[in-house]
Amino acid sequence: MTAKLIALQADITTLAVDAIVNAANSSLLGGGGVDGAIHRAAGPELLRECRTLGGCAVGDAKLTQGYNLPARHVIHTVGPIWHGGTRHEPELLASCYRRALELAAEHQLRTLAFPGISTGVYGYPADLAAQVAYRAVVAAVGRLPSIEEVVFCCFSAVDLAVYQKLIASNQA
Ligand code: AR6
Repeated sequence: MTAKLIALQADITTLAVDAIVNAANSSLLGGGGVDGAIHRAAGPELLRECRTLGGCAVGDAKLTQGYNLPARHVIHTVGPIWHGGTRHEPELLASCYRRALELAAEHQLRTLAFPGISTGVYGYPADLAAQVAYRAVVAAVGRLPSIEEVVFCCFSAVDLAVYQKLIASNQA
């Protein structure tokens, strides 16, 4: 079965999926943006578990419980900081999406929601990031048949339109 890909405009902390993905930093000890929102909504036990993980490399992903979130789990990944596209940013960003989906499949998680990793504080242009994200997810779910649904959770209407176009053009 091929996974259903959906774009939504929402606060990712409200989504009742098997796992939401966090755009974290390599310490995994919290921050601003979506990371701050996820830690606030999950409660202090999330930070306690994150402290045991020993951080996370750029492009890799680690799994925790979801605690007070409606999502059962959080998959923490670390996107690349945008330096103009010359420091392997597309490969590293694609790796975030791929590793998060692989980790989900390893733990029998079937529904996931991703934020626009690296497109806030880390400065990755949102339209370029969306293309990388979309391609990486399509490739990964093709290899991971247990994944049923992937939500691209957009914070803005502009980001939502970009993902809707990608999904529509792929279905045509
Ligand atoms: N739900 C969905 N998307 C959100 C939410 C939310 N509640 N809040 C923000 N976004 P950012 P990064 C969007 O800056 O660029 C943190 O301090 C936001 O509009 O959260 O990967 C970490 O600790 C943007 O499109 O993550 C790191 O230090 C996207 O989420 C650093 O920021 C990502 O923006 C990571 O930077």
